[in-house]
Amino acid sequence: MQTITLKNPFDMHLHLREDVILESVLPFSARTFLGGVVMPNLKNPVSTAEDAIQYKNQIQNICPDFYPLMTIYITPTLDENKLKKAKDLGIKILKLYPKGATTNSNNGVDDILDSKMLKLLEIAQDMDFILSIHGESNGFSLDREYEFLSIFEFLAKKYKKLKIVLEHMSDHRSIKVLEDYENLFGTLTLHHITLDLDSLLGKGLSPHYFCKPILKTPKDREKLLELALNAHPKISFGSDSAPHTLENKLKDNAAAGIFSAPYLLESLIELFDKNHALENLQKFISDNAFKNYALDSKDFVEKTLTFYKKPCQIVEKVTTKDGQTIIPMHANKMLSWSL
Ligand code: DOR
Ligand code: ZN
Repeated sequence: MQTITLKNPFDMHLHLREDVILESVLPFSARTFLGGVVMPNLKNPVSTAEDAIQYKNQIQNICPDFYPLMTIYITPTLDENKLKKAKDLGIKILKLYPKGATTNSNNGVDDILDSKMLKLLEIAQDMDFILSIHGESNGFSLDREYEFLSIFEFLAKKYKKLKIVLEHMSDHRSIKVLEDYENLFGTLTLHHITLDLDSLLGKGLSPHYFCKPILKTPKDREKLLELALNAHPKISFGSDSAPHTLENKLKDNAAAGIFSAPYLLESLIELFDKNHALENLQKFISDNAFKNYALDSKDFVEKTLTFYKKPCQIVEKVTTKDGQTIIPMHANKMLSWSL
Protein backbone atom coordinates (compact mmCIF):
# COMPACT_ATOMS: atom_id res chain seq x y z
CA MET A 1 0.00 0.00 0.00
CA GLN A 2 1.28 3.46 -0.89
CA THR A 3 2.30 5.55 2.13
CA ILE A 4 3.62 9.02 2.87
CA THR A 5 5.38 10.13 6.03
CA LEU A 6 5.18 13.73 7.20
CA LYS A 7 7.17 15.35 9.98
CA ASN A 8 6.21 18.18 12.33
CA PRO A 9 3.22 19.64 10.48
CA PHE A 10 2.39 23.18 11.57
CA ASP A 11 -0.81 25.07 10.84
CA MET A 12 0.33 28.68 10.66
CA HIS A 13 -3.16 30.26 10.89
CA LEU A 14 -5.72 28.66 13.14
CA HIS A 15 -8.85 29.81 14.99
CA LEU A 16 -9.53 27.71 18.07
CA ARG A 17 -12.07 29.96 19.84
CA GLU A 18 -12.79 29.53 23.54
CA ASP A 19 -14.79 27.43 26.05
CA VAL A 20 -16.88 24.56 24.66
CA ILE A 21 -15.93 25.28 21.05
CA LEU A 22 -12.22 25.21 21.90
CA GLU A 23 -12.69 21.85 23.64
CA SER A 24 -14.49 20.42 20.61
CA VAL A 25 -12.29 21.69 17.79
CA LEU A 26 -8.76 21.61 19.20
CA PRO A 27 -8.41 17.78 19.23
CA PHE A 28 -8.92 17.75 15.45
CA SER A 29 -5.86 19.96 14.95
CA ALA A 30 -3.81 18.21 17.63
CA ARG A 31 -4.51 14.81 16.03
CA THR A 32 -2.20 15.55 13.11
CA PHE A 33 -0.49 18.90 13.67
CA LEU A 34 2.46 19.38 15.99
CA GLY A 35 1.31 22.94 16.56
CA GLY A 36 -0.21 26.03 15.10
CA VAL A 37 -0.36 29.80 15.11
CA VAL A 38 -3.42 30.58 17.22
CA MET A 39 -5.45 33.60 16.18
CA PRO A 40 -6.34 36.17 18.85
CA ASN A 41 -9.80 37.27 17.67
CA LEU A 42 -11.77 35.87 20.59
CA LYS A 43 -14.87 37.71 21.80
CA ASN A 44 -12.46 39.44 24.18
CA PRO A 45 -9.39 39.92 22.01
CA VAL A 46 -6.10 38.39 23.12
CA SER A 47 -4.37 41.74 23.29
CA THR A 48 -1.82 41.41 26.10
CA ALA A 49 0.86 38.90 27.05
CA GLU A 50 -1.23 37.93 30.09
CA ASP A 51 -4.25 37.16 27.90
CA ALA A 52 -2.07 35.10 25.57
CA ILE A 53 -0.49 33.06 28.36
CA GLN A 54 -3.87 32.39 29.94
CA TYR A 55 -5.24 31.27 26.56
CA LYS A 56 -2.15 29.14 25.92
CA ASN A 57 -2.68 27.38 29.25
CA GLN A 58 -6.30 26.63 28.37
CA ILE A 59 -5.16 25.11 25.09
CA GLN A 60 -2.41 23.03 26.66
CA ASN A 61 -4.72 21.77 29.40
CA ILE A 62 -6.90 20.25 26.69
CA CYS A 63 -4.12 18.97 24.38
CA PRO A 64 -0.76 18.96 26.17
CA ASP A 65 1.16 17.71 23.11
CA PHE A 66 0.02 20.55 20.83
CA TYR A 67 2.30 23.60 20.60
CA PRO A 68 0.25 26.79 20.30
CA LEU A 69 2.24 29.71 18.91
CA MET A 70 0.42 32.63 20.45
CA THR A 71 -0.37 35.94 18.75
CA ILE A 72 -1.18 39.37 20.10
CA TYR A 73 -4.13 41.27 18.63
CA ILE A 74 -3.10 44.83 17.75
CA THR A 75 -5.68 47.04 19.46
CA PRO A 76 -5.54 50.82 20.05
CA THR A 77 -4.18 50.23 23.58
CA LEU A 78 -1.11 48.23 22.55
CA ASP A 79 2.09 50.04 23.50
CA GLU A 80 5.83 49.54 23.88
CA ASN A 81 5.59 48.11 27.42
CA LYS A 82 3.01 45.55 26.38
CA LEU A 83 5.11 44.57 23.40
CA LYS A 84 8.17 44.17 25.62
CA LYS A 85 6.24 41.94 28.03
CA ALA A 86 4.99 39.78 25.16
CA LYS A 87 8.47 39.49 23.71
CA ASP A 88 9.90 38.49 27.10
CA LEU A 89 7.30 35.73 27.37
CA GLY A 90 8.31 34.28 24.02
CA ILE A 91 5.45 35.60 21.88
CA LYS A 92 6.68 36.26 18.35
CA ILE A 93 3.66 37.23 16.29
CA LEU A 94 1.41 40.28 16.17
CA LYS A 95 -1.89 40.12 14.31
CA LEU A 96 -3.29 43.17 12.62
CA TYR A 97 -6.97 43.30 11.69
CA PRO A 98 -8.27 46.37 9.91
CA LYS A 99 -11.22 47.43 12.04
CA GLY A 100 -14.40 45.72 10.86
CA ALA A 101 -12.73 43.55 8.20
CA THR A 102 -13.86 40.20 9.61
CA THR A 103 -15.13 38.20 12.62
CA ASN A 104 -14.40 39.96 15.95
CA SER A 105 -12.34 42.70 14.36
CA ASN A 106 -14.13 45.62 15.99
CA ASN A 107 -11.10 46.22 18.18
CA GLY A 108 -8.84 46.32 15.14
CA VAL A 109 -6.88 49.15 13.63
CA ASP A 110 -8.82 52.08 12.21
CA ASP A 111 -5.99 53.74 10.30
CA ILE A 112 -2.88 51.66 9.76
CA LEU A 113 -0.98 54.64 8.45
CA ASP A 114 -1.52 57.00 11.39
CA SER A 115 1.60 58.13 13.21
CA LYS A 116 0.95 56.23 16.47
CA MET A 117 0.53 52.97 14.59
CA LEU A 118 3.62 53.57 12.47
CA LYS A 119 5.68 54.23 15.60
CA LEU A 120 4.39 51.01 17.16
CA LEU A 121 5.35 49.03 14.06
CA GLU A 122 8.84 50.49 14.24
CA ILE A 123 9.13 49.26 17.83
CA ALA A 124 7.76 45.86 16.74
CA GLN A 125 10.45 45.74 14.07
CA ASP A 126 13.18 46.56 16.60
CA MET A 127 11.87 43.81 18.89
CA ASP A 128 11.92 41.34 16.01
CA PHE A 129 8.21 40.55 15.97
CA ILE A 130 6.54 39.02 12.94
CA LEU A 131 3.56 41.05 11.71
CA SER A 132 0.67 38.99 10.34
CA ILE A 133 -1.97 40.99 8.54
CA HIS A 134 -5.53 40.32 7.47
CA GLY A 135 -5.06 42.44 4.37
CA GLU A 136 -8.43 43.64 3.13
CA SER A 137 -9.83 47.08 2.37
CA ASN A 138 -13.48 47.89 2.94
CA GLY A 139 -14.16 48.14 -0.80
CA PHE A 140 -15.90 45.76 -3.19
CA SER A 141 -15.63 42.18 -1.88
CA LEU A 142 -13.68 40.72 -4.77
CA ASP A 143 -11.16 43.56 -4.79
CA ARG A 144 -10.53 43.95 -1.06
CA GLU A 145 -7.25 42.06 -0.99
CA TYR A 146 -6.04 43.75 -4.16
CA GLU A 147 -6.88 47.20 -2.79
CA PHE A 148 -4.88 46.48 0.35
CA LEU A 149 -1.69 45.56 -1.52
CA SER A 150 -0.43 49.16 -1.58
CA ILE A 151 -0.39 49.10 2.23
CA PHE A 152 1.71 45.92 2.22
CA GLU A 153 4.11 47.61 -0.20
CA PHE A 154 4.30 50.75 1.92
CA LEU A 155 5.02 48.76 5.10
CA ALA A 156 7.49 46.43 3.40
CA LYS A 157 9.48 49.42 2.14
CA LYS A 158 9.31 51.37 5.39
CA TYR A 159 10.17 48.45 7.70
CA LYS A 160 12.70 46.45 5.74
CA LYS A 161 13.69 44.33 8.73
CA LEU A 162 10.13 43.52 9.78
CA LYS A 163 8.81 40.19 8.53
CA ILE A 164 5.28 40.79 7.29
CA VAL A 165 2.86 37.99 6.45
CA LEU A 166 0.07 38.30 3.88
CA GLU A 167 -2.39 35.97 5.55
CA HIS A 168 -4.73 33.66 3.61
CA MET A 169 -3.74 34.88 0.13
CA SER A 170 -6.79 34.74 -2.09
CA ASP A 171 -6.05 36.94 -5.11
CA HIS A 172 -3.43 36.06 -7.73
CA ARG A 173 -2.44 39.74 -7.92
CA SER A 174 -0.87 39.37 -4.46
CA ILE A 175 1.78 36.98 -5.75
CA LYS A 176 3.85 39.61 -7.51
CA VAL A 177 3.90 41.84 -4.43
CA LEU A 178 5.01 38.91 -2.26
CA GLU A 179 7.85 38.24 -4.66
CA ASP A 180 8.88 41.89 -5.01
CA TYR A 181 9.75 42.42 -1.33
CA GLU A 182 12.20 40.27 0.55
CA ASN A 183 10.45 40.80 3.89
CA LEU A 184 6.97 39.76 2.71
CA PHE A 185 5.78 36.20 3.32
CA GLY A 186 2.44 34.48 2.86
CA THR A 187 0.10 31.78 4.09
CA LEU A 188 -2.31 29.76 1.98
CA THR A 189 -5.47 27.95 3.08
CA LEU A 190 -6.82 24.70 1.68
CA HIS A 191 -10.04 26.42 0.64
CA HIS A 192 -8.46 29.24 -1.36
CA ILE A 193 -6.33 26.80 -3.38
CA THR A 194 -9.15 24.36 -4.13
CA LEU A 195 -12.43 26.33 -4.25
CA ASP A 196 -13.75 29.41 -6.01
CA LEU A 197 -16.78 31.67 -5.89
CA ASP A 198 -18.92 29.01 -7.59
CA SER A 199 -18.50 26.73 -4.57
CA LEU A 200 -20.13 29.45 -2.48
CA LEU A 201 -22.93 30.51 -4.82
CA GLY A 202 -22.67 28.76 -8.17
CA LYS A 203 -25.53 26.33 -7.51
CA GLY A 204 -27.36 27.13 -4.29
CA LEU A 205 -25.93 29.40 -1.63
CA SER A 206 -23.55 27.36 0.58
CA PRO A 207 -22.84 29.25 3.79
CA HIS A 208 -20.21 26.67 4.76
CA TYR A 209 -18.02 28.08 1.99
CA PHE A 210 -18.45 31.67 3.10
CA CYS A 211 -15.20 33.09 4.43
CA LYS A 212 -13.09 36.23 4.47
CA PRO A 213 -11.35 36.91 2.21
CA ILE A 214 -14.11 35.62 -0.01
CA LEU A 215 -13.35 32.77 -2.46
CA LYS A 216 -12.41 34.25 -5.80
CA THR A 217 -12.07 33.28 -9.45
CA PRO A 218 -10.84 30.01 -11.01
CA LYS A 219 -7.74 31.90 -12.14
CA ASP A 220 -6.95 32.99 -8.58
CA ARG A 221 -7.48 29.44 -7.33
CA GLU A 222 -5.23 27.96 -10.01
CA LYS A 223 -2.39 30.45 -9.53
CA LEU A 224 -2.45 30.03 -5.76
CA LEU A 225 -2.61 26.25 -6.05
CA GLU A 226 0.49 26.39 -8.20
CA LEU A 227 2.33 28.24 -5.41
CA ALA A 228 1.33 25.55 -2.93
CA LEU A 229 2.19 22.62 -5.19
CA ASN A 230 5.61 24.15 -5.82
CA ALA A 231 6.02 24.80 -2.08
CA HIS A 232 7.01 28.39 -2.82
CA PRO A 233 9.70 29.09 -0.18
CA LYS A 234 8.02 32.26 1.13
CA ILE A 235 4.70 30.51 1.75
CA SER A 236 3.55 28.35 4.65
CA PHE A 237 0.34 26.45 5.05
CA GLY A 238 -2.17 28.20 7.32
CA SER A 239 -5.62 26.66 7.27
CA ASP A 240 -7.59 29.63 8.65
CA SER A 241 -9.88 26.93 10.01
CA ALA A 242 -12.60 29.09 11.57
CA PRO A 243 -15.41 27.21 13.29
CA HIS A 244 -18.81 28.83 13.75
CA THR A 245 -21.96 27.22 15.07
CA LEU A 246 -24.52 26.09 12.51
CA GLU A 247 -26.90 28.63 13.99
CA ASN A 248 -24.47 31.47 13.26
CA LYS A 249 -23.77 30.15 9.76
CA LEU A 250 -27.45 30.09 8.86
CA LYS A 251 -28.62 33.40 10.31
CA ASP A 252 -28.89 36.67 8.40
CA ASN A 253 -25.54 38.37 8.26
CA ALA A 254 -23.99 34.91 8.47
CA ALA A 255 -20.61 34.36 10.11
CA ALA A 256 -17.59 34.11 7.79
CA GLY A 257 -15.33 31.13 8.31
CA ILE A 258 -14.70 27.60 7.07
CA PHE A 259 -14.05 24.87 9.64
CA SER A 260 -11.42 22.88 7.77
CA ALA A 261 -9.37 21.53 10.69
CA PRO A 262 -10.70 17.96 10.87
CA TYR A 263 -9.08 16.43 7.72
CA LEU A 264 -6.57 18.98 6.53
CA LEU A 265 -3.58 16.74 6.03
CA GLU A 266 -5.56 13.91 4.44
CA SER A 267 -7.08 16.47 2.05
CA LEU A 268 -3.71 18.06 1.25
CA ILE A 269 -2.13 14.66 0.59
CA GLU A 270 -4.96 13.83 -1.80
CA LEU A 271 -4.53 17.19 -3.54
CA PHE A 272 -0.76 16.95 -3.87
CA ASP A 273 -1.00 13.28 -4.94
CA LYS A 274 -3.50 14.12 -7.68
CA ASN A 275 -1.17 16.85 -8.94
CA HIS A 276 1.99 14.71 -8.74
CA ALA A 277 3.54 17.02 -6.18
CA LEU A 278 3.72 14.84 -3.06
CA GLU A 279 7.46 15.44 -2.80
CA ASN A 280 6.76 19.13 -2.03
CA LEU A 281 4.17 18.62 0.68
CA GLN A 282 6.62 18.39 3.59
CA LYS A 283 7.95 21.85 2.74
CA PHE A 284 4.47 23.32 2.41
CA ILE A 285 3.13 21.98 5.72
CA SER A 286 6.26 22.38 7.84
CA ASP A 287 9.75 23.15 6.50
CA ASN A 288 8.86 26.55 5.03
CA ALA A 289 7.18 27.56 8.28
CA PHE A 290 10.22 26.57 10.36
CA LYS A 291 12.38 28.80 8.15
CA ASN A 292 10.05 31.73 7.67
CA TYR A 293 8.98 31.99 11.32
CA ALA A 294 12.46 31.09 12.62
CA LEU A 295 11.22 28.10 14.61
CA ASP A 296 13.77 25.75 16.11
CA SER A 297 13.01 22.03 15.97
CA LYS A 298 14.88 21.64 19.27
CA ASP A 299 11.99 23.46 20.96
CA PHE A 300 9.51 20.71 20.04
CA VAL A 301 9.11 16.99 20.58
CA GLU A 302 9.14 15.65 17.06
CA LYS A 303 5.91 14.37 15.52
CA THR A 304 6.08 11.88 12.65
CA LEU A 305 2.92 10.65 10.92
CA THR A 306 2.44 7.98 8.29
CA PHE A 307 -0.58 8.14 6.02
CA TYR A 308 -1.85 5.22 3.90
CA LYS A 309 -3.65 5.29 0.57
CA LYS A 310 -6.79 3.91 2.16
CA PRO A 311 -10.20 5.67 2.18
CA CYS A 312 -11.55 7.68 5.08
CA GLN A 313 -14.62 9.85 5.46
CA ILE A 314 -14.89 13.39 6.77
CA VAL A 315 -17.27 13.56 9.74
CA GLU A 316 -20.76 14.90 9.17
CA LYS A 317 -20.68 17.32 12.09
CA VAL A 318 -19.12 18.09 15.43
CA THR A 319 -21.32 18.55 18.48
CA THR A 320 -20.12 20.66 21.40
CA LYS A 321 -20.68 19.67 25.03
CA ASP A 322 -23.64 22.04 25.23
CA GLY A 323 -25.28 20.70 22.08
CA GLN A 324 -24.19 23.21 19.43
CA THR A 325 -23.43 21.90 15.95
CA ILE A 326 -20.39 22.79 13.83
CA ILE A 327 -20.23 21.60 10.23
CA PRO A 328 -16.78 20.87 8.81
CA MET A 329 -15.64 21.74 5.28
CA HIS A 330 -16.75 18.99 2.86
CA ALA A 331 -18.78 17.17 5.52
CA ASN A 332 -19.24 13.43 4.72
CA LYS A 333 -16.85 13.51 1.76
CA MET A 334 -14.73 10.40 1.12
CA LEU A 335 -10.97 10.95 0.95
CA SER A 336 -8.47 8.52 -0.51
CA TRP A 337 -5.79 8.82 2.22
CA SER A 338 -5.98 8.17 5.96
CA LEU A 339 -3.76 8.22 9.02
O1 DOR B 1 -13.43 33.57 7.24
C1 DOR B 1 -12.84 34.03 8.20
N1 DOR B 1 -13.15 33.69 9.46
N2 DOR B 1 -11.88 34.92 8.01
C2 DOR B 1 -11.31 35.58 9.00
O2 DOR B 1 -10.49 36.39 8.75
C3 DOR B 1 -11.73 35.36 10.40
C4 DOR B 1 -12.34 34.07 10.56
C5 DOR B 1 -13.08 33.93 11.86
O3 DOR B 1 -12.52 34.28 12.90
O4 DOR B 1 -14.20 33.44 11.84
ZN1 ZN C 1 -8.21 33.84 10.19
